[in-house]
Amino acid sequence: MSLLFLWSLSSSLILSPSSTLATDSECVLLSGFDPGFVADGDFVIGGIFPLHYNQEMPDVNYTYQPTAVRCNGFDPRAFRWAQTMRLAVEEINQSEQLLPNHTLGYKIFDSCAYPLTGQRAALAMLNGLGQAHTNMCSGASPLLAVIGESGSAQSIVVSRILQPFKIPMISYFSSCACLGDRRKYPTFFRVIPNDDYQVKAMAQLLVRYDWRWVGVVRGDHEYGHFALQGLLRELKGTGVCVAYQEMIPLLYNQQRALEIIEVMRSSTARVVVVFSAEGEMTPFLKDYMAQNITGIQWVASEAWVTASLFTTSEYFPYLGGTIGFGIRQGQIPGLRDYLQMVNPRSTLMPPCSGQETLLEQHSAYMNTSSPRVAYNVYKAVYAIAHSLHNLLHCQAGEGPFHNHSCAHSTNVHPWQLQHYLQELAFYISGEEVNFDLKGDSIPYYDIINWQRGSGGNMEFINVGLFDGAKASGKELVIQEEKILVVSMCSANCAPGFRKAVRRGEPLCCFDCVPCDSGKISNQTDSIDCTECPEDYWSNADGTMCIPKVVEFLSHDAMGIALTVIAVVGACLTVSILAVFLHHRTTPIVRVNNSELSFFILLSLTLCFLCALMFIGEPTSWSCMLRHTAFSITFSLCISCILGKTLVVLAAFTAARPGNNIMKWLGPKQQRVIIFSCTLVQVLICAAWLMAAPPYPSKNIQDQRSKIILECSVGSQLAFWCVLGYIGLLACLCFILAFLARKLPGNFNEAKFITFSMLIFCAVWISFIPAYVSSPGKYTVAVEIFAILASSFGLLFCLFAPKCYIILLKPEKNTKQHLMGNKK
Ligand code: TRP
Repeated sequence: MSLLFLWSLSSSLILSPSSTLATDSECVLLSGFDPGFVADGDFVIGGIFPLHYNQEMPDVNYTYQPTAVRCNGFDPRAFRWAQTMRLAVEEINQSEQLLPNHTLGYKIFDSCAYPLTGQRAALAMLNGLGQAHTNMCSGASPLLAVIGESGSAQSIVVSRILQPFKIPMISYFSSCACLGDRRKYPTFFRVIPNDDYQVKAMAQLLVRYDWRWVGVVRGDHEYGHFALQGLLRELKGTGVCVAYQEMIPLLYNQQRALEIIEVMRSSTARVVVVFSAEGEMTPFLKDYMAQNITGIQWVASEAWVTASLFTTSEYFPYLGGTIGFGIRQGQIPGLRDYLQMVNPRSTLMPPCSGQETLLEQHSAYMNTSSPRVAYNVYKAVYAIAHSLHNLLHCQAGEGPFHNHSCAHSTNVHPWQLQHYLQELAFYISGEEVNFDLKGDSIPYYDIINWQRGSGGNMEFINVGLFDGAKASGKELVIQEEKILVVSMCSANCAPGFRKAVRRGEPLCCFDCVPCDSGKISNQTDSIDCTECPEDYWSNADGTMCIPKVVEFLSHDAMGIALTVIAVVGACLTVSILAVFLHHRTTPIVRVNNSELSFFILLSLTLCFLCALMFIGEPTSWSCMLRHTAFSITFSLCISCILGKTLVVLAAFTAARPGNNIMKWLGPKQQRVIIFSCTLVQVLICAAWLMAAPPYPSKNIQDQRSKIILECSVGSQLAFWCVLGYIGLLACLCFILAFLARKLPGNFNEAKFITFSMLIFCAVWISFIPAYVSSPGKYTVAVEIFAILASSFGLLFCLFAPKCYIILLKPEKNTKQHLMGNKK
C-alpha cells in the first residue's frame, strides 16, 4: 500500500512545492522526524514513548510548514522504558532459542505525551528514516509491529494510523476500556489490564471499606472519561454514592483547579477517587497542598499510584494513606546494569555534554527494584518475538493461512504477525502472557498503600491484590494488618465499637462509639452491641463476654489486715486478762469488781474473734454464725458493763445510811442480770434463725461487672432488732454511767464507762450510713471495722487506766489512794 497519501495527513511531512522536480518514481521527505534510538535488523519494530512530559503547542494553521516539535521536561521513567525495549531486543538477538538466525531492529520515537506528536511518530516510523523511497509499492513493510503508547489518548491516534496497514501494536500502559473495541481498534493489543477490571476492583474496595460517599476527579482524556463512566456503572446498586465529579483541564488552569479544590474541601465526601497521571497531578497537588487541606482519603488509579514524584516527605501529610491499584510488577534481570551502561553519546538524544551522570540526577530512572511499566514493555517485546518465532517455525502445509500456507520468512506481512499474536501464549518470569479476543491481557493488580518510610519519605507498600481470574467476589484480597488509611467519617468500626450515625450527615458518615460495659460487639462495623448473659461481663475491649469476677472479702490485703487486727485485739485482751489474774489480789482489781472484769475481758476476746467469721467465702453455716455470734458476744459484753455500772451506782448509793440496796446486787444477782440480758439476745437470735436465717447469696445488682458473694440477712427485721437491742443495752449503760460519773473516789469507773459507751455509740451510729452505702465486699469490711473499733474502744477505755496503775504506778495501787480524794 502506498504511504504517499499519509504524507498529506502528517503535519510534519509535506510535499515540497518543488516535488515536480523529483522523478516520478521517487518521493523526497522534506521534513523529518527523527527517532530517539534506531537499530537495524531483519525485522524492525517501532516504539513510542513519552520521553518528555509535554510540549509547546504546535502552530498548525496549515498555511506554512509547521515548525519542529519542541518538547519540555525530560521524563526519566519513560526513558527507562525505552531503554528496556532496547535491552529486550538485544537479549532476543543474542538468544539461541528465540529467533535464532534472525535479528530484530527498532525505531524508538518520542511522543512528548501528546497525541499529535504520537501521530507524527507513527507516520515517521512508517515512512522510514528520511531516505528516498524508490520502491514504494512492493516489498515487506518497513515495520512489523509497534510497541506503544503510554497514554490511551496517544494510543488511540497511533492505532488509527496503523490500522490501514494492519500493523499490530502492543501498548504497555494504555488501559482505557475504549481500546477494547475490536471494530475500532482491530490491531490493538496490550499487556496491561483493561480499566473495566480496575473500576470493578475499585468499587469492591470502596464497598469493603464502607466508603459510601465519594468524589471523583479525573483528567481530560479518554482514560479519565471511560474510567469514570465505568466506575459509575460499577457503583450502581452497591450503595456507594458519588458526591461530585470534577475534571482537571488538559491545559492546566490554576483557577479551575482551585475551584475543584474548593469543591473537595466543602464536600462531606472524604474519599476521592482520581483517574489521572503523574504529570497532570503534579501542578494540581501543588495547589491542593497550598490550600492546606488534610484528612482526605485518596484512591489512586494505576496511572499515578506508583508515581515516584510524590515520594518526598512534603507530600506525606496530604497523601499518606493513599490506596490504589498498581499494575503487575516483574523482574528484568539485566536491567540495572543495562541502564548504567547508557551514555549520552551512544544515543541520538538531545545534545548532552557527555558528563551527565544518570545515577544522581534521576533516581526515577535507576529505580529498577520493581518495574511495573518497564516490565510491561519487556513483556510486549517478548510477545512480538515469540509470535514471530512461531510464525517463522510454521510447518509448511500446516500453516494458518489460506490453503494451510505459512508466512514467507523474507516477506512477513504485519497482519500475519497479528494472527500469531492473537494465538500467543508464553511464560515470562513465572507469569503467563496471552491476549483475549479484545487484545486484553489477564487482569491482575497489586493493592498499593502509601505509608511513611523510615526517612519520613513516602513508601509504596503492597497490601493485597486483585486477581480477576478468581471467582467473582473472591478477587480482592487485602492484608488488613498492613494497611494504613486516613481516619475519616467512614472508617471501619473495630470490634468493641458500634456505629452511631451523625446527625445531618449522609448515612455513610458515622462515629464509632465503644460498647457500654456489659455489652459487646465482635465484628467490624457492628450496628449494635449485644448484651452479655447474666453471669458474664464484657472484657476491657468490649469484644468478648467473660465470666464475671466473683468477689468476697478473703485473703487479699484488706482481709489480711483485718484478720491481723482482730487477732492482735484478741491477744491484747487475753494478755490484759493475764495481768489482771496475776494481780487479782491488788486493790485496784479487787475494788473494781474483779469477777465482772474477767467476764468483760472474756467476752471482748470473743468479740474480736467473731470478727474473723466475717472473712472468707460465705457459706450457709458461716452466714448464720456471723450475726448471731457477733450479737450474742456483744450483748454479753455490754450486759457485763451494765452490771458493773449498776454495782458502782449501787455501791455509792448504799454508802448512805439506811440503804440496803447492795443486798440486792450481790454476785449472784449480778450473774442473773448478765445472764438474763444476754438471754434476750439469744432468744431474738433463735427466733431469727428459725424464721428466716441469713443465707449466702449472689449479688449482681450493686456492681454489674462482678458477682458479689455475701450473706443476705434473711429477715431485715431480726437484723435490726439484734442491732437495736445492743444499742438499747449500750444506751442504758451510758445513762446509768452518766449518772454515776460524778460520784466520789479517785478511781470511779463510771467516768470510763461513760466514755467507752460514747465511743461505742459513735462507732455504731457512723456504721449505719457507711454500711448501707459501701459496695460489694466493702460492706463486710465496714461491719468488721465497726466490730473491731468498738471492741478496741471498750478495751482501752475500761482497762487502759487500770493497766497503767498496775504496771507503771504500783505505788498508787493502794486502798487509800483509790478510795480517798487525795491526788
Ligand atoms: N493507564 C493510563 C492510560 O491508559 C496511563 C497513562 C499514561 C495516562 N499516560 C497518561 C493517563 C497520561 C492520563 C494521562 O492512559
